[in-house]
Amino acid sequence: MKIKEVHLKQYFTGAPSLEYFDIVSRDLPSPGEGEVRVQNLWLSVDPYMRPRMAGLKTYIDPFEIGKAMEGGAVGIIESSNHPKFKVGDHVLSMLGWREGYVSDGKGLTPVDTRLLPVETYLGLAGLTGFTAYVGLTRILDLKDGETIWISAGAGAVGCAAIQMAKAMGAHVIASAGGAEKCALLKELGCDGVIDYKAEDNLTAAVKREAPGGIDAYFENVGGAHLEAALNTLKPLGRIAACGMISRYNDDRAQPGPSNIINVVTKSLRMQGFIVTQHMDLQPRFIEALSTWMMKGQIKNHQTIYEGIERAPEAFMGLFSGSNTGKMVVKV
Ligand SMILES: NC(=O)c1ccc[n+]([C@@H]2O[C@H](COP(=O)([O-])OP(=O)(O)OC[C@H]3O[C@@H](n4cnc5c(N)ncnc54)[C@H](OP(=O)(O)O)[C@@H]3O)[C@@H](O)[C@H]2O)c1
Repeated sequence: MKIKEVHLKQYFTGAPSLEYFDIVSRDLPSPGEGEVRVQNLWLSVDPYMRPRMAGLKTYIDPFEIGKAMEGGAVGIIESSNHPKFKVGDHVLSMLGWREGYVSDGKGLTPVDTRLLPVETYLGLAGLTGFTAYVGLTRILDLKDGETIWISAGAGAVGCAAIQMAKAMGAHVIASAGGAEKCALLKELGCDGVIDYKAEDNLTAAVKREAPGGIDAYFENVGGAHLEAALNTLKPLGRIAACGMISRYNDDRAQPGPSNIINVVTKSLRMQGFIVTQHMDLQPRFIEALSTWMMKGQIKNHQTIYEGIERAPEAFMGLFSGSNTGKMVVKV
């Protein structure tokens, strides 16, 4: 059986481009004893993959050149010699960016497709939704009535965080690039909306939407967004540093925020987090998410690119802002 995979051709800095990726065909063998063959249905496309393409070792190793890249994926078992998996079962794995694979079952998590559409396990019900939950609860300890600003609000984590923060009773300000995305932010229930591409002064825009200042900032972007947050946080304000996508294509280190002194003068707390280091919160997340979904307070949002050949293009879209909600590839 022939399958296609996406390989990284070389490490690079600067903006991603198609020339750095190869689509490679190869034979997939039949599963041996104790193995399954899985056909991937949906692939997750995520910003954290960018440093892995620069050859940088951060909390995760760089991708290997000339090999299939890794990433979240949901697939269906199409042949099984494994006692725990039967044909037709759906499984979550980190063996994305390929149409299929043979596995001994390690690292495969069964998913229940009766509850939600399978791709939701890459978005709202997967690590994306969980990231929003960890940031809002454990890192920010967001309280009913507090004012929060969520940057990259129309993205995957952003859409989830906005809806959860509303469900938790917060006053929510969110920012995104462009009028269409800002219309979505309104639909999601935001009390204040900022089109950062149309603003000359982001600090003034946050003050306009939150005249009393913000209690918490959910950081997805970095750069000018972080500076505006440091300017507008109230004393004892908190920052959950989830990501800084505006920095991922930098070819050299950039100077820090010019107003970092605000951390001292306003007694601010800034805490970063890596979602996979908070898996103990998963049962509480699933419980909270089920309640919010049953009450109709939260929905999955996604942008779909069709065909594995389009995975690199979908990835590039994260940096040009072509997605609303979770970026996924339908294989
Ligand atoms: N800490 C963790 O464990 C963890 C887990 C998952 C994700 N993250 C981080 O969370 C953030 C959001 O991730 P996601 O998966 O939800 O991605 P995403 O928000 O769905 O996609 C990226 C979005 O970022 C915005 N963007 C791109 N370049 C930008 C720039 N230079 N300035 C401002 N906005 C820019 C674009 O929206 P606009 O059109 O609005 O610009 C784009 O749609 C990322 O920083 C990611 O690294 C962290």
